[in-house]
Amino acid sequence: MPKKIRLGILGGGGDSLIGVLHRVAAHMYDSYEITGAVFSPDLQESLDFAKEIDIPLDRIYPDFDTLIAEEMKLPESERIQVCSVQTPNFLHFPMAKKLLENGFHVICEKPMTTTYEEAKILRDTHKKAGSVFAVTHTYTGYPMVRQMRELIKSGALGKIHKVDARYYQGWINPIIHDAEKRASVWRLDPAKAGISSCMGDIGVHAFNMIEYTTGLQIKSLLCDFNYLYTDNLMDVDGTVLIRMDEHVKGVIRASQVATGEENGLAIRIYGEKGGLVWEQERPNFLYKLSDAEPLQVYKPGHAYNSDLSLDGTKLPAGHPEGIFDAMGNIYRGVARAIRGEAFDAGEFPTMTDGVRGLNFIEATVASHKSGNTWVTLD
Ligand SMILES: NC(=O)c1ccc[n+]([C@@H]2O[C@H](COP(=O)([O-])OP(=O)(O)OC[C@H]3O[C@@H](n4cnc5c(N)ncnc54)[C@H](O)[C@@H]3O)[C@@H](O)[C@H]2O)c1
Repeated sequence: MPKKIRLGILGGGGDSLIGVLHRVAAHMYDSYEITGAVFSPDLQESLDFAKEIDIPLDRIYPDFDTLIAEEMKLPESERIQVCSVQTPNFLHFPMAKKLLENGFHVICEKPMTTTYEEAKILRDTHKKAGSVFAVTHTYTGYPMVRQMRELIKSGALGKIHKVDARYYQGWINPIIHDAEKRASVWRLDPAKAGISSCMGDIGVHAFNMIEYTTGLQIKSLLCDFNYLYTDNLMDVDGTVLIRMDEHVKGVIRASQVATGEENGLAIRIYGEKGGLVWEQERPNFLYKLSDAEPLQVYKPGHAYNSDLSLDGTKLPAGHPEGIFDAMGNIYRGVARAIRGEAFDAGEFPTMTDGVRGLNFIEATVASHKSGNTWVTLD
């Protein structure tokens, strides 16, 4: 049995949304142990949380500069090997960059950085470092999303002609109509979130899902944003027309004010031989539509699924696979990469996905600001 990978955590404290998902995912396949952390900018809060989840306190640091400096003093055999960055967006770039420069592997939350320029700098830093870098577009870890990718790759849809990804949430609706509340949310603060709220936070997942499942790239887009108050010009809703090729077109719709919606991510891909439909709130069902045959429903754990899908399924068919399992699959792929074991390119999103994501976010903002014109992606 290989030794567990020493994992450091930045952000993801007890008060955070995403921390628990990463911690459970890291432990799911018994591959990692949490060795050190900065859970919060407040050291006492970090220490209290470390006590609560029973992590040794001697490697809980006041900030990430100290974590890196102190860890570098340790012999390599004891040092943290990979750090997972789970802070608000503006800290991803400085943290990830310094980690790479000091030889750590990195698991980074999305959006990878707050600007495309930073993303490209990080890509150069990563090239020099040669370590493992993953971006946690969590939804790619679902067995049925992996199956979608593999079915499309095997030609099950024939030539693709229409793509449609929708990510609707409603949680900003009760916040946005109150001036004090909307000023207190970091996702609506460009200094912390970057230039976009809705596209940067969730539209980028929809973007990534289209490229992940089809294997095609979005070449140009036209975007129309909505914001509701002039004292906050961050988008809380947007619609994006996309062109992937001359005859492959589609739409990305994202909203944080789709009142009453929870985590309504859905993707539909249509080709000459059929269509595939997957919805995050019903993740165990992948629907295959056809002109010629009755509706087919793929479910996790059955032998008819691809190796990539089955690799991400732990229990026999009928045991629901959820968001924790999806993130667990990403962490397992990263563990394989860190250990130098063979892994499939579909196991975790990489630096390329992170850079593409920032190219997309900035293009949507540029398109909207220029009066809804077509903008080309690199
Ligand atoms: N992959 C996904 O599906 C998904 C889902 C939700 C959030 N996210 C991403 O995860 C990141 C965090 O989001 P969240 O909703 O958990 O945010 P949050 O505000 O709930 O939590 C942020 C955490 O970071 C900590 N933190 C803040 N500044 C810090 C610092 N200087 N050093 C160390 N820790 C610090 C806070 O104490 C807190 O524990 C964001 O980038 C977000 O886009 C991804």
